[in-house]
Amino acid sequence: MSIRIALLPGDGIGPEVVREAAALLQVIGEQSGLVIEFREALIGGAALEATGEPLPAATLALCQESDAVLLGAIGHPKWDTLPPEKRPERGLLGLRGGLGLYANLRPARIFSSLAGASSLKAEVVSNIDILIVRELTGGLYFGQPRAIEAERAYNTMIYHRHEVERIARVAFDAARRRRGRVTSVDKANVLEVSQFWRKVVLEVAQGYPDVHLDHLYVDNCAMQLVRNPGQFDVILTENLFGDILSDEAAMLTGSLGMLPSASLGSGTALYEPVHGSAPDIAGQGIANPIATMASVGMMLRHSLNLPKEADALDRAISRVLKDGARTRDIATTGEPWITTAEMGDKIRAAYTES
Ligand code: IPM
Ligand code: MG
Repeated sequence: MSIRIALLPGDGIGPEVVREAAALLQVIGEQSGLVIEFREALIGGAALEATGEPLPAATLALCQESDAVLLGAIGHPKWDTLPPEKRPERGLLGLRGGLGLYANLRPARIFSSLAGASSLKAEVVSNIDILIVRELTGGLYFGQPRAIEAERAYNTMIYHRHEVERIARVAFDAARRRRGRVTSVDKANVLEVSQFWRKVVLEVAQGYPDVHLDHLYVDNCAMQLVRNPGQFDVILTENLFGDILSDEAAMLTGSLGMLPSASLGSGTALYEPVHGSAPDIAGQGIANPIATMASVGMMLRHSLNLPKEADALDRAISRVLKDGARTRDIATTGEPWITTAEMGDKIRAAYTES
């Protein structure tokens, strides 16, 4: 079988971590008899500087023709003063919209060998295994009307029934494969759009009598995440709430550099690390490639139908960590650490030996 993968390295540490993940995919492909054709394209600040656009039409077209997209990261403070439509973030948002990637899956789990790295007490975080299902193409990020004027500015938080239904189904289906619980997060005590969200989620839940559903207001959820994160299985929420809560959940694990994500729609899916472009350490070869390599794992599962390979990769990553390999971000003070490329090599070797 032959597959086409679009590589979008992007900005900052993006190219360094994508290099390791693409090499991993190559190894996995060779072992499982897949012919992988990699094609690279520009996005974010890199695209802006080369073409004047954060998402060149050629990049979107390449992604649409590919079986899956692997993205590094985008952004740098030097582009912060640009008008919204030129900012690197628009590249990512354009890709999400253009590929119809409405479902963003962000698992946050604790790697037992890294439990000490969390900012919370080890006993509070010991059992974190959360899947955040974030709606990704609606809400305030895409709602119309939106404008910035001289004396006022506004965005619109709008959800249509079909948008809530399809993301709710993603969450309920995922819960069935996990521990059978969905917590839908909203602000229904204040917002009409949240009252509607809650109503539609309740309707979808009728089709999943085996899944336990509860609802939390977003402020309470933010608090519960630091109080007792072990209570959550699947968190289902809208775009902006999911943006905020997923950063919080990621940090709880102490492993921001370790967490993968998948953005799914009806066509080509996109895989990327949860972390950003980390301009402060870019180009030094010290970034942690694990989040991007683990995103390859999600690609194996969700786009390439290679669940066994995905499991083997999860085991390889756990083994390398258990053996004590650390990049700088996850090393405790005084502990020796290895480079991005060395971590990549170790994980590929562990995978091949498995
Ligand atoms: C994320 C990021 C993006 C978002 C930015 C870069 C547009 O924070 O993927 O969580 O807000 O969705
Ligand atoms: Mg974010």
